[in-house]
Amino acid sequence: MTTQQFCDTIVSFAGGGNMATALIQGLIRSGFQGGNIRLFEPDASRAQALHQQFGIVTAPSNTATLNGSRVLVLAVKPGIIGAVLREVAPHLSRDTLVISIAAGITLASLTNVLPPRQPVIRAMPNTPALIQAGVTVLCPGDHVNEEQRLLGETLLKTVGDVRTVSDESVMDAVTALSGSGPAYVYLILEALSDGGVACGLPRDMATWLALHTVQGAARLVQETGQHPGVLKNQVTSPGGTTIAALKVLEEAGMRGTLMRAVEAAWRRSRELSGPSSGH
Ligand SMILES: NC(=O)c1ccc[n+]([C@@H]2O[C@H](COP(=O)([O-])OP(=O)(O)OC[C@H]3O[C@@H](n4cnc5c(N)ncnc54)[C@H](OP(=O)(O)O)[C@@H]3O)[C@@H](O)[C@H]2O)c1
Repeated sequence: MTTQQFCDTIVSFAGGGNMATALIQGLIRSGFQGGNIRLFEPDASRAQALHQQFGIVTAPSNTATLNGSRVLVLAVKPGIIGAVLREVAPHLSRDTLVISIAAGITLASLTNVLPPRQPVIRAMPNTPALIQAGVTVLCPGDHVNEEQRLLGETLLKTVGDVRTVSDESVMDAVTALSGSGPAYVYLILEALSDGGVACGLPRDMATWLALHTVQGAARLVQETGQHPGVLKNQVTSPGGTTIAALKVLEEAGMRGTLMRAVEAAWRRSRELSGPSSGH
């Protein structure tokens, strides 16, 4: 698919909240014309604001966005996805790729409500998508062809990095690591800043240092391709300050705590997306 073909695709959104806004912004930045993006959002003032900001077409219902649309992005809260699916199902063409970004909603629960052989992709983005720095894992359902898979990947790439998996069971782990992960990093940033303040730094300077340290360290891992343990060893001189701090972190079980935190989120995601979740 050429960039021009991608930008000429008609994309519909059910829901115009945070994630839809991020995706619409990503599409516009990638060269989409607002006229090729359709949206139904029940909050009229929000819909109007998105129309004014991006020139997108707002519609009076979810079904009114569908005619000729190549993609329908379900960007509503998991609790109402069933109602939206029942609303759109009778009006969907088999040529329309449905992409659900709803956390914990399985492919089976989506396809149960949609017409037989409807192409569906389950996607798990995260909130840095709001500044085009997200990471998304996609899991295409059985009836998604190669072109539609590429279309889904290209669409989500407008808000960050994308990987595609075929085994849906990993989506709970994805939710636990990258979906919930920004909150872990915020907590770490807050604690580092508190530590700086405890040592006498002004708050704004402590937060600024914490932020740039986390950002810079992450970029160094990414750009050098070095194992984080190797980079850690490089900044740990014998008898120095860093090893004194690392000893405290190891004694407190920081690695094990982070691992157990991710596992707890994984277990919770499995409970929520399990058969008794009622979605
Ligand atoms: N935010 C994240 O970090 C994140 C990460 C990964 C995945 N997700 C998933 O992304 C989805 C959207 O999350 P969000 O944070 O963007 O939520 P959000 O800001 O609450 O957006 C959802 C929007 O859907 C609208 N809506 C309600 N009923 C609707 C209907 N029948 N048809 C069409 N739109 C309807 C809501 O309008 P009203 O407010 O007027 O009800 C709201 O504007 C969720 O399923 C979530 O699990 C979110």
